[in-house]
Amino acid sequence: MKRVAYLNGKFLSYQKAVIPIGTHALQYGSGCFEGIRAYWNAEKKKLYVFRLKDHFERLGRSCKTLHMKLPLTTEALVKLTVELLAKNKHRENVYIRPFVYKTSDIVSVFNLDRLENGFGIYTVPLGSILNVKEGINAVFSSWRRVDSHTVPPGAKPTGIYLNTSLAKTEAEEKGADEAILLNLDDSIAEGSAENLFIVKSGKLITPSIDQNILEGITRNTVIELAEKELNIRTAQRKVQKDELWTCDEIILTGTGMEIAPVVKIEDRTVGSGKIGPITQKLRGLYSNIVHGKDKRYLKWLTEVNCLPSPAHNC
Ligand SMILES: Cc1ncc(COP(=O)(O)O)c(C=O)c1O
Repeated sequence: MKRVAYLNGKFLSYQKAVIPIGTHALQYGSGCFEGIRAYWNAEKKKLYVFRLKDHFERLGRSCKTLHMKLPLTTEALVKLTVELLAKNKHRENVYIRPFVYKTSDIVSVFNLDRLENGFGIYTVPLGSILNVKEGINAVFSSWRRVDSHTVPPGAKPTGIYLNTSLAKTEAEEKGADEAILLNLDDSIAEGSAENLFIVKSGKLITPSIDQNILEGITRNTVIELAEKELNIRTAQRKVQKDELWTCDEIILTGTGMEIAPVVKIEDRTVGSGKIGPITQKLRGLYSNIVHGKDKRYLKWLTEVNCLPSPAHNC
């Protein structure tokens, strides 16, 4: 099945959705994006997109910060994504990547407001990124998280991901699954593409949004679920490196990684060395919710229905 992508007002075959070599965003990293997941529910034969509207609202805020412009309203972007998913007839879990970028072909850093904006979305089948069932191991990165005084880390700018790619590369070179990035003052920022939580004596703690983090949609989901379903309030504050040695559980949260337990850091065991009870409960809740199995949270899902024609069975 050939995939279709959406680029600058048109649906095109994925192979034809290309951008020219001199594109400003390619040369200078002047873009921003979202990473969204849709989950296939085999029983209901339906695809559910998780918190689609929230992702487009965050993309809108990123655009404002970065002098970029979305071509459509949030509602129209939601409709467009559903149309694209239906056209691609996915019957598996899918990753959805909308992005806004500076299209101008110009060899100069230039005033961003004077450059043209482009917009695209593509979809790609994506299962679990890592096998997290046994828990993952992480190392502290020698690369520091980009500080908000340098580039706004909360705006998901494409160029900033060189920072996290270097961290991830270094982590894998050391035999670890994931990197934990520190701030310039040695406090904890986040994972390469995940927010971090610790569990200490039954309480959840996560770095606050002034700690150079991306305000993750999974992070917000976990905070809400912990409070409503587990009766646990989350403290949002600066987290020090040594707290990771003494806490009971460490959790990484992100659209890609979902809810992942960290059981080892730098070869030291975290908590009991096994997936902790709070991580386990959150993982169970999350998995049911994203697959459309928990009616109370259907408000977070956008359903993708089969196209009416039999030729388009999804
Ligand atoms: C740097 C960074 N932090 C955190 C996250 C988690 O954000 P979300 O839960 O919205 O996927 C991501 C995900 O893209 C990320 O790139």
